[in-house]
Amino acid sequence: MADRLTKAAARNIFYGGSAFFFVTFVALTAHSHFYMVTTSTDESTLTESVARGKHVWEENSCINCHTLLGEGAYFAPELGNVWLRYGGADDAEGARMALIAWMQSQPSGIEGRRQMPQFNLTDQELNDLVDFLAWTSTIDTQGWPPNEAG
Ligand code: HEC
Repeated sequence: MADRLTKAAARNIFYGGSAFFFVTFVALTAHSHFYMVTTSTDESTLTESVARGKHVWEENSCINCHTLLGEGAYFAPELGNVWLRYGGADDAEGARMALIAWMQSQPSGIEGRRQMPQFNLTDQELNDLVDFLAWTSTIDTQGWPPNEAG
């Protein structure tokens, strides 16, 4: 073996390394995708209203103030688990009513509190949003966020 790196050896390391990490990257991407659709989310519960709620979420740019599973802006509370914070696991109807009432009563106008705008959403949009937030809370996030407040 040559006692210094030849050009050919350097080239082989470069191509071999690139190919190795490319294959690793593709395999990890495939694994993430497979994990998402089979383990962390329950596709069978993805209803039409959940999909519509996601559109309402996107059209109104809720993410510009809120985080959803940690992604987004840090101006307002995390909403990935808001359904559980509002007691949705025990009393789905109560949580739905409370979330809708919350959104309808904004801005609160309370001095010193950050304000959420009024979006004037229809009943259908509000219910779809709640379905979306309820569905989001069922995603297996492996224990994230670490505390209830997110
Ligand atoms: C301009 C920033 C802003 C935008 C955009 C915004 N919010 Fe908010 N939101 C807030 C703030 C600030 C609070 C907390 C207010 C408070 O606690 O008084 C809040 C609170 C909430 C809460 C209650 C959270 C809790 O833990 O009690 C819900 C639910 C909510 N927002 C839903 C939404 C949805 C759905 C949208 C999109 C349609 C949205 N927000 C868009 C600022 C925003």
